[in-house]
Amino acid sequence: QGGVISRVAVQCTAAGRLALFSPSKINLFLRVMRRREDGFHDLASLFHVIDLGDDMTFELLPEGADRDQLSCSDPSIPSDDSNLVIKALHLFRRKTQTARFFGVTLQKKVPHGAGLGGGSGNAATTLWAANELMGRPATAAQLLQWSGEIGSDISVFFSLGAAYCTGRGEVVEDVAPPLPLTTPLLLVKPPVGLATPRIFKSLDLSRRSAADPLELLAGMTKAGATGSPLPQALCVHDLEQPAFDNLPELKELKERLASSPVGSSPQDSPGGAEQQRPAAVFMTGSGSTIVSVGCDTPPAFLADPNYKDMFVS
Ligand code: C5P
Repeated sequence: QGGVISRVAVQCTAAGRLALFSPSKINLFLRVMRRREDGFHDLASLFHVIDLGDDMTFELLPEGADRDQLSCSDPSIPSDDSNLVIKALHLFRRKTQTARFFGVTLQKKVPHGAGLGGGSGNAATTLWAANELMGRPATAAQLLQWSGEIGSDISVFFSLGAAYCTGRGEVVEDVAPPLPLTTPLLLVKPPVGLATPRIFKSLDLSRRSAADPLELLAGMTKAGATGSPLPQALCVHDLEQPAFDNLPELKELKERLASSPVGSSPQDSPGGAEQQRPAAVFMTGSGSTIVSVGCDTPPAFLADPNYKDMFVS
């Protein structure tokens, strides 16, 4: 049970210890529908879980332990109650009336401030792991439902991997995957991350797209069913405008990726044939990662000194 988390997560189980893979996500389109009274925004977005992820281990601490222990490879990430992993454990205890605490290690590979939902994936993995270690007091549907209380894009990790998400992002509906699993994805993120609240705050609703999200979804589902490349015209991202306003070099990065060949070396185009461009290029989440779909080799321009320190995966 547990959707995509349960399918990808378990690497090994040994004597009460779980070693898990904690995936991340991209948004193939992201429409912001309205600003709500509670300060959040209603979204309509097609989420896709991807295989870039962190490594996590979990164990139940002995009875008598009175706090969780989180050890993270990235010292810039707080390991106190503000960390989504600890929030997920508090949530789990509260909901299941459990009094036990957990030891967690987190080897970060997914950058933060990236729009990749790395922290959200960690929270989903944590909920799932705690439930396994405690003998499954909760159903997968309950974990999904509870996860929306601590973040907007955690629930998607309990989907089957491709999901149409509405509400704050926590209302999840499984859809047919629009991208074949073999589609190469290049992720490029500048050293500067973007804070989600700031990007939503600087969104000018009058500059949004008017695209109907259900039409975008239908178009993407059709492309997936017929094996066609993801259509760029359907990759509508309302948060690109505020992200580009905050970080103008991000727009330039997107344009350069869109005009770069998907294979950067000359031998990729035998006989001088015209080199292929990516099927689609877009920003994910609230940034600052740009995704190039169909690109399996980082383009040569990323070696320029201007682009040093980029995260490339
Ligand atoms: O839910 P999450 O912790 O990811 O949200 C972080 C912040 O992003 C929120 O406090 C809110 O300012 C903004 N946000 C929003 N609408 C959403 C999701 C997030 O305004 N649907």
